[in-house]
Amino acid sequence: DVTTDKFIFTREQVTQIIQPRRKFSHKGTYGHALLLAGSYGKMGAAALAARACLRSGVGLLSVHCPKVGYTILQTAVPEAMTLPDTEATHLTQLPDLNTYQAIGIGPGLGKEPATRHLVRQLLQTTPAPLVIDADALNIIAEENLQPALPPNTILTPHPKEFERLAGPASDDYNRLKLLQNFCRQYGCFVVLKGGHTCIGTPAGDLYFNITGNPGMATGGTGDVLTGIITALVAQKYSPLDACRLGVYLHGLAGDLARDQVGETALIASDLIENLGAAFRQFG
Ligand code: APR
Ligand code: MG
Repeated sequence: DVTTDKFIFTREQVTQIIQPRRKFSHKGTYGHALLLAGSYGKMGAAALAARACLRSGVGLLSVHCPKVGYTILQTAVPEAMTLPDTEATHLTQLPDLNTYQAIGIGPGLGKEPATRHLVRQLLQTTPAPLVIDADALNIIAEENLQPALPPNTILTPHPKEFERLAGPASDDYNRLKLLQNFCRQYGCFVVLKGGHTCIGTPAGDLYFNITGNPGMATGGTGDVLTGIITALVAQKYSPLDACRLGVYLHGLAGDLARDQVGETALIASDLIENLGAAFRQFG
């Protein structure tokens, strides 16, 4: 029964999970993340994910992007290295994946045939844990690639993306049951986003988040979450801790942004600007 397995994760748990930076550490200590993101007209999604990833403590970040994204990303996110694809408008070729501790894919990706092939190849060959969002989820749903998900992969769907992956839900409660079944069946972690984001685990546990507000119902806030969770995985947080910490801090950054600009004017970049204040509440 779904009601016996659910938890709310609290500020105290976040305090216990979060790790301080160490005096004699260096950028290698905090991991090298790779984001595969962006297409013609959607490079903003890649930029938001990249900036959020960098604001979440990653040691190094590379972004594999279509050629149109090269100047955009080097300008908008100078801290990130770029790996331009051979194709101008969308991703077609996987780069060498062997130097990364976490790989995030999806924001602004599009669904071109060559990009679909790239997603399939990534699932088959990844040497690092995956964080999968947005159009990468839609591709997995449309190509029926759920069985090819590597164990412990993190998926970050909103409810529509989730139902494309898991089938239609009759109501909110039924969607949670589908979430539990999906995570058990495919051995993955699913961050089902919404007013109270729910994290499902391969063991069938469900964890509910308490931070965040309706000001976050605006384009790009999901891309920010992808960047945050990818950074936390690169820093060697377990998949469950990366999900719990990421979702909590993302919502807390949203609540701090609301204190500054209100809910109506809030935009995704405001979350990124408030990540520092969110992390600082925990040391
Ligand atoms: N209360 C609290 N949090 C909320 C609320 C709310 N009422 N509404 C939304 N959020 C949070 C969600 O929990 C989630 O973290 O905002 C984020 C929204 O993420 P997405 O639904 O992925 O939205 P978006 O960032 O616009 O996605 C960008 O990716 O998923 C595709 O189709 C989507 O093209 C769009 C792109
Ligand atoms: Mg989204």
